[in-house]
Amino acid sequence: MTDNDYENQRPKKQRRSGDLRENDAAAAERRRRIDAERRQLPAWAARDKLLALLQQHRTLVLVGETGSGKTTQIPQFLLSAKFGRGGSGKGGLANGSAGGTSHGGASNSPGQGGTPDEAGDGDAAAGPGPGSARTAATAAGGRGHGGGHCIAVTQPRRVAAMTVARRVAEEMGTKIGQQVGYAIRFEDVTSPATRIKYMTDGLLLREALVDPLLSRYRVVIIDEAHERTVHTDVLLGLIKGVQARRGDDFRLVVMSATLDAARFVDYFPGAVAALVRGRQFPVQVLYTARPEDNYLDAAINATLQVHQDEPEGDVLVFLTGQDEIDSAERLLKDRLSSLPAAARMAGVGGAAELPGEEGEGGGGAEGEGGAAAAAAAAAAVGRPRELLVLPIYAALPPEQQMKVFEPAPPGTRKAILATNIAETSITIPGVRYVVDTGHVKSRDYNAKLGLESLAVVPVSQAQARQRSGRAGREGPGKAYRLYTESDFSQLAATTPPEITRCNLASVVLQLKAMGIDDVLGFDFMDPPPRTAILRSLELLFALGALDTSGKLTEEVGLRLSRLPVDPMFGRVLLAAAGLGCGVEALAVVAMVSADNVFHTPRQKEAEWRAARIKFLSREGDHLTLLNVFRGFMELPKESNKARTSWCSDNFINIRAMRKAEDIYTQLVRFMGHPSPPGLGLPLATCGDETTPLRRALTAGLFPHAARLQPDGSYRVIATGRQVFLHPTSVLLERKPDCLVFNELMHTSRTYARDATAIEARWLPELAPAFFAAKASAATAGVSAVAAGAAAAR
Ligand code: CDP
Ligand code: MG
Repeated sequence: MTDNDYENQRPKKQRRSGDLRENDAAAAERRRRIDAERRQLPAWAARDKLLALLQQHRTLVLVGETGSGKTTQIPQFLLSAKFGRGGSGKGGLANGSAGGTSHGGASNSPGQGGTPDEAGDGDAAAGPGPGSARTAATAAGGRGHGGGHCIAVTQPRRVAAMTVARRVAEEMGTKIGQQVGYAIRFEDVTSPATRIKYMTDGLLLREALVDPLLSRYRVVIIDEAHERTVHTDVLLGLIKGVQARRGDDFRLVVMSATLDAARFVDYFPGAVAALVRGRQFPVQVLYTARPEDNYLDAAINATLQVHQDEPEGDVLVFLTGQDEIDSAERLLKDRLSSLPAAARMAGVGGAAELPGEEGEGGGGAEGEGGAAAAAAAAAAVGRPRELLVLPIYAALPPEQQMKVFEPAPPGTRKAILATNIAETSITIPGVRYVVDTGHVKSRDYNAKLGLESLAVVPVSQAQARQRSGRAGREGPGKAYRLYTESDFSQLAATTPPEITRCNLASVVLQLKAMGIDDVLGFDFMDPPPRTAILRSLELLFALGALDTSGKLTEEVGLRLSRLPVDPMFGRVLLAAAGLGCGVEALAVVAMVSADNVFHTPRQKEAEWRAARIKFLSREGDHLTLLNVFRGFMELPKESNKARTSWCSDNFINIRAMRKAEDIYTQLVRFMGHPSPPGLGLPLATCGDETTPLRRALTAGLFPHAARLQPDGSYRVIATGRQVFLHPTSVLLERKPDCLVFNELMHTSRTYARDATAIEARWLPELAPAFFAAKASAATAGVSAVAAGAAAAR
């Protein structure tokens, strides 16, 4: 059962037939309104021109302002022009694209001044490194598609894939999962009827493993190409090959808000570029006079100030991740409720009418009369009175995500707290004010040390501009940059493509599994650093996925490539099958893949720490997670009430638990199923024994093994790097001599997250190629892999 099924089940129970009729009427009305809105979008004016271009060219590079209708409309145009249906072997355009007049909204000139504007993946950021969103895939048994004439639309982010698919289903008047569906890792909401499939770029990459010609798709649309995620870049390379082999039967559309079209046109032979002109109103950019110590506080102040001083229009606040958004939401609500009633009602009389003034409702109006007067004053200058705080990030339940798209009720202003998903992937109507903290969560990879990490870093200038631009979609807007103008001038112009700064192990593994042995010679648009590729070859060799000649091994490599988790965690699962603890290892990997299991509010620290004691394992965080999972699974499955109250009593995030249960179920099927892509591996349980599980973890996470130092820090054995145990780790109280951990996080220090105590002597035994003879034979083996790869060029 997918998350989506869960979400769909609840409302059904409460529905009565009367409500249903009312809902139908409301839905029809809504659709009429949406239909009118659609036709106003710049993409509509360009429809015929775009379809004509795509009839003549196999690759179309489409540049258009965010919000111009690329993501929602283009796939529908293609579908109506028979690109997404069965039938004619050639191109599918035969039956004419909505003939009629050509609107000339598109021109053939590549977009000017567009620079690759890379953004760290705020959603992947919510995930726990290995085993998280890195490699996307639904597990075995993903539903098939009829006829192979589907239109695939890739998105770098899961939230975008889901919200856009829902929107388009609504526009087309169909149920999500029918004609329009989406697929993200561990969640497939499509059916044989699906013709437009929104999916993450990582998932399409995974499909290419089993269907190298992408034969079920007539058209692939790579959306948000300017983000240049590692999956997008690899897909572009693969698709270049697919085009050569499929000829006229296949079309590629590369879409983006800010891309450097010329680069894509150069890369794909015979490609043509088109520009959809959007409307952009002027945006006044405001900087802080001095650097802010705490951008979170600054963001809250700025939001409240906008609410008090500015005429109507919603505020979009860019933050870096779920935790930060959660605290901002709390702080904002606290501040709102502690403001005097009058001030809460958006400013007080004259005091708030001066823009830029920090008037905390200082006008002194108090009590009902004051409030009413203030409200009247606010209304008179068109200021909304209430502030509705709405978060949006990947791990948020879909119905809550959709709330940000609903217009604010009369007299209310929305404050949307978003990760950088709102930068280009989704457009939220009504936004007139942008608050830019100037930061983003981003992956970084140190190829020399072989360490990947997640860190909050400053945005690029291109990102800052894109963020500000969000305020000018519907009218003139204002953007509050919470940094100084000179800080802005110091920012990097653009962010380099992710492929040049990430761990390539899973990508290299997938290329190898697709028979692309010469990874160093792969036609990347921007080749990753050679050392990064060599590093991942070494890691895959150490995991046993590659042999000394750099070829995929049957036993480990092939299986790892099929597992929808990071290769290190995949190795844990394979080892666990052999060690008789498959059930436990699957539970741990499922828990690690679910986002943010523990709810750890700062002001209730004593409470959540106390609640966690009953799950605590002295042997580490993975075992603690396992205990939580077991506790949850013991509850009656059918009782939502029991589950909800258990979770809230224990400061556990129920959505994460549902997700973990779902991933677990899928992985169990995947591991146990006898025929491919199932692995047919035995799934035994080790009961209360912890050693087998800790050994299995060691067999996969050994590159992240670390030894305790006299000063209480740890040193990563493979790299010599000093790291600290994360403050939430259960191992903090009694630090073991040796441990393995999931990932590193940089804040003020480098923290190791999710750690488990192991015995140092297991390392040479479980990872001989890496440890046993590090100084001698094995290193020769590693070099041989590198040499083999180099020789293959
Ligand atoms: O892809 P692009 O940025 O060009 O635009 P889009 O995502 O296709 O969005 C087009 C318009 O649809 C936006 O301006 C929004 O007004 C609207 N939209 C919406 O209201 N709700 C959604 N979930 C998605 C889009
Ligand atoms: Mg879009």
